[in-house]
Amino acid sequence: MALGLLWLSLAILVVLQTQARDSTPDLIPAPPLLRVPVYPDFRNEQFQGKWYIIGYAGNGFKKEKHSKLKRYTVTYELNNDDSYNVTSIAPRDQRCENWTKISTQNFRLSQFNLHNIEGNTGMSSYTARVVTTDYDQFAILHFRKVYNNQEYIKVNLYGRTKELPTVLRKIFINFAKSLGLTDDNIFFTRPTDECKQR
Ligand SMILES: *[C@@H]1O[C@H](CO)[C@@H](O)[C@H](O)[C@H]1NC(C)=O
Ligand SMILES: *[C@@H]1O[C@H](CO)[C@@H](O)[C@H](O)[C@H]1NC(C)=O
Repeated sequence: MALGLLWLSLAILVVLQTQARDSTPDLIPAPPLLRVPVYPDFRNEQFQGKWYIIGYAGNGFKKEKHSKLKRYTVTYELNNDDSYNVTSIAPRDQRCENWTKISTQNFRLSQFNLHNIEGNTGMSSYTARVVTTDYDQFAILHFRKVYNNQEYIKVNLYGRTKELPTVLRKIFINFAKSLGLTDDNIFFTRPTDECKQR
């Protein structure tokens, strides 16, 4: 865990130092991707497997509206061509919904693009970036999409287990804030036993 955290604290410093100062009234502006850290020496086989989505932040999210979101899982499976199948399973209206996105081949370290291959969520194509991870406890991911000429960013805290130590939650919050997000844009999903979450 130590190396991942050290990397992230350096990365946050860089984002803070280079962050654009301008702001718009409604949507908090997304920092350019160039300023978002990419985890060096990313090992995509080790990143595979199931993760719980524990922390959520983004300029399109409001804590009071979204904080009832139940904890769900996402599973990364590596294909031979270095793309991932990314399957989410989430409790929704008394049942479990699942949808898969597929990533195009990793072209640069820990960054890849995600596309819907099935499911109803439509349009979204995300640029996903693993900001930091230790592979066996936590990961912080940054997602960016452009929709109606607006840039949306999302940051997730992933855990291999359903809960993570407070220190990791704090680091996630600090990272989200370093991107210009505020407490109102940051929340944690609610633990649940639905959808056979073991
Ligand atoms: C990923 O999804 C594709 C399309 O559904 C499937 O053919 C492939 O076997 C899956 N790969 C893995 C590693 O599960
Ligand atoms: C995902 O949903 C489909 C139908 O919507 C179902 O057939 C499939 O078993 C589900 N997969 C999982 C892993 O829950």
